Amino acid sequence: MSKRVLVSGGAGFIGSHVTVELIQAGYEVVVADDMSNCDLTCFEGVKKITGREDIPFVKMNFCDLDAVNRLFDGYRIDAVIHFAAFKAVGESVAEPIKYYTNNLSSFLNVLEAARTHGGCNVLFSSSATVYGEPEKLPVTEASPRQSATSPYGNTKQICEDILRDSVKAYPGLKGIALRYFNPIGAHPSALIGELPRGVPNNLVPFITQTAIGKRECLSIFGNDYPTEDGTCLRDYIDIVDLAKAHVYAVRRMLDGKMEQDYEIFNIGTGRPVSVLELVTTFEKVNHLKLNYKFAPRRAGDVTAIWADPTLANQKLGWKAERTVEETLSAAWAWEKRLAERAHE
Ligand code: WQD
Repeated sequence: MSKRVLVSGGAGFIGSHVTVELIQAGYEVVVADDMSNCDLTCFEGVKKITGREDIPFVKMNFCDLDAVNRLFDGYRIDAVIHFAAFKAVGESVAEPIKYYTNNLSSFLNVLEAARTHGGCNVLFSSSATVYGEPEKLPVTEASPRQSATSPYGNTKQICEDILRDSVKAYPGLKGIALRYFNPIGAHPSALIGELPRGVPNNLVPFITQTAIGKRECLSIFGNDYPTEDGTCLRDYIDIVDLAKAHVYAVRRMLDGKMEQDYEIFNIGTGRPVSVLELVTTFEKVNHLKLNYKFAPRRAGDVTAIWADPTLANQKLGWKAERTVEETLSAAWAWEKRLAERAHE
C-alpha cells in the first residue's frame, strides 16, 4: 500500500511543486489549504501535470485543532509536510501577533494531531533566514542560528525548536527541518509557479513582472555591499530541485533511515549568485532587456548567504541539478503563461 503524505499549504507555490514530485514518486497525497494566500490555479496545474483528477483536497485552516483532528481521523497519514504559514517578512514586522498566532498555532495543531493519532513523521519547511548574517560562509547546519530580525524569521526558529522538543518527548514522532535558501523558478510545464499577491517582495517575481510590463522598473537594493559587484549574494535554489528534496526527506523518514529523531538539512545549491548576476542572466537566457536601477539598501538584508549542502547531498542523496539559466527561463515561461491566461 502506498504511503500517504499530508501537505498543509499544498496549494501554494512550494506546496504545489512538492505535491507533484510526491505523486510522481508514487506517494498518495492529501492537499489541505485555507486558500488565504492563493487560488486554485496551482492545484489545477498539479492535477494536469500528474494526470490525477482525484487528488484529495481539503479546504481548512490549521489553526482550527478540531479540523486538523478530523483530517487525521479521516485519513491514515504517514507523514506531514507543513507549509501552511504566512511568509511576508515586512508584514510580519507590522503585524507580529497575526504571524505568531498563525504560524505557531497551525504547527502546534499539526503536532498535537500527529501525536494523538499514534505518531507521525513531520517535515517542517524552515528557512536559511535562521542563520541571520553568517560569520562564516558557506553555512552548514552546525552554523549558529542568529537572533531573528523579523517575527516571520522568529516563527521559523520557534517552530524548529517546537519540533525538536516534541520528537524528544513523544515516542513515534520524528521530525526533519529543511532550511531553504532562496527558492525560485517554476515547473518546466509552466502549469504551476509563484503567484504573489500585490507587489512582490521577492526578487524573481519582481524581475518577471517587470519584464512582462506589470512593474515599471526593478530596484536593485544596494550596490555598495562588500561583494565583487556591490550587490548581495544569495543561493537561488530551483523550485523543482527544492521539491525533490522533500521526496528524499520523506523517504528517509518513512524508510526508517533517520540517524536521529530530529534532523536538519540545508537545501541550497552551494553557489552564491549576486543580484546583478541574476538580473543579467535573466536578460541573457530570455533575450530581453530589463528596466532596472540601483536603489538604496533594503533594511534587514544580509550581505551574503549561501549553503553548504553537503549533508543533504550525503544523507538524503539529493543534489540540486538545474542550472540558474534553466530556472530563470522557467520563471519567465510561467510569467508569460499567466499573462496569456489573463487575456483569455
Ligand atoms: C533577494 C535579494 C534583495 C527584491 C527572503 C526571506 C527568506 C525566504 C526567501 C521566504 C536581496 C534583492 C529583492 C527587489 C532587490 N523565505 N532584491 N530588488 O530577502 O534573500 O529572502 O525570501 O519566504 O526567509 O527573508 O529574498 O528575493 O526578497 O531578495 O534587489 O525588488 O534580492 O535585496 O539581496 P531574501 P528576496
